[in-house]
Amino acid sequence: MQETVQATQQEALAAIAAATDDAALEALRIEYFGKKGRFRAFFQEMGKLSPEEKAQAGQYINAARTAIEEALTARKEAFKASQFADLDQKEWLDVTAPGTRETHLGRGRLHPLTQIQYEVEDIFRSMGFNVFDGPQVEDDFHNFGALNIPADHPARDMQDTFWLTNGRLLRTHTSSVQVRAMHAHKPPLRGISPGRVFRYEATDASHENTFYQVEGLMVDKNISVANLIYVMKVLLREIFQKDVEVRLRPGFFPFVEPGFELDISCLICGGGGCPVCKHEGWVELLPCGAVHPNVLRNCGIDPTEYSGFAFGMGLNRLVMMRYGIDDIRHFQSGNLEFLEQF
Ligand code: DAH
Repeated sequence: MQETVQATQQEALAAIAAATDDAALEALRIEYFGKKGRFRAFFQEMGKLSPEEKAQAGQYINAARTAIEEALTARKEAFKASQFADLDQKEWLDVTAPGTRETHLGRGRLHPLTQIQYEVEDIFRSMGFNVFDGPQVEDDFHNFGALNIPADHPARDMQDTFWLTNGRLLRTHTSSVQVRAMHAHKPPLRGISPGRVFRYEATDASHENTFYQVEGLMVDKNISVANLIYVMKVLLREIFQKDVEVRLRPGFFPFVEPGFELDISCLICGGGGCPVCKHEGWVELLPCGAVHPNVLRNCGIDPTEYSGFAFGMGLNRLVMMRYGIDDIRHFQSGNLEFLEQF
């Protein structure tokens, strides 16, 4: 029997050495030490031996068992260690390698209108102006009434309006935010309000039903048209990065008195005349004026104590001038080839 046990031990050790994974080791453990395993059979046989033989057999059977168990444990440990041994090979990664270029997903960017809006905001903030926001769905009072445009006034025809069924409207200009700003803050007051406006009109190369404006307002004691011109000149110099010549012509808007059209010398031809300025050398850029006393009064400000200026500027026009864009409809086209140029 001793030879059988020793032969079994050799066989087991060889099998353990040849095992390639944990599952194989577990199968061997069951084969040798399981309920119906080979060692159980040895112990049963041992029971039939004489007492001296039994003691001797106990020793060599146990020795064989220990040897096999130790081999199983050692092999198991070796597997565990080898799992991580080549980790640096299996999971090696060159963190300095350049990334793969995404060809189908370009990088996002800001819309040119947003870019110019942010620029305008920065310029005005540097002059101490606040940036005010107002709702795109307005009421009659803020869009028209408070701005000295009464219900039967022909000026309402100038702005064909999207009326909502609840009596409200889509604001036709950002001047509505003037009214909100003056109600919310006492003078001295300096603010601009950029945003989206709507007109109920047919679109063509120079007309859109949705576009962007920035409204400006300054109210304090002794504010005059001189202050207006100075602020406009700073704005234009910063936007176009050069000194821009301006001129004022009279213009009518119910909420300013006097009202003006501010023209700039054509940046394309330098004032000599070209198709962009229709050979006049001047381009109409922004309407403005001194805030009408009625507007101040409508907003709870005493016009005998305070005065102010206001202006409205089309952001689309500004972007078009800067980049020589010939059709306002590009802005809302969603055309990536257009947008990716900015
Ligand atoms: N709200 C006018 C428009 O959209 C533009 C405008 C004109 C604004 C004169 C002003 C201003 O503040 O003084 O047509």
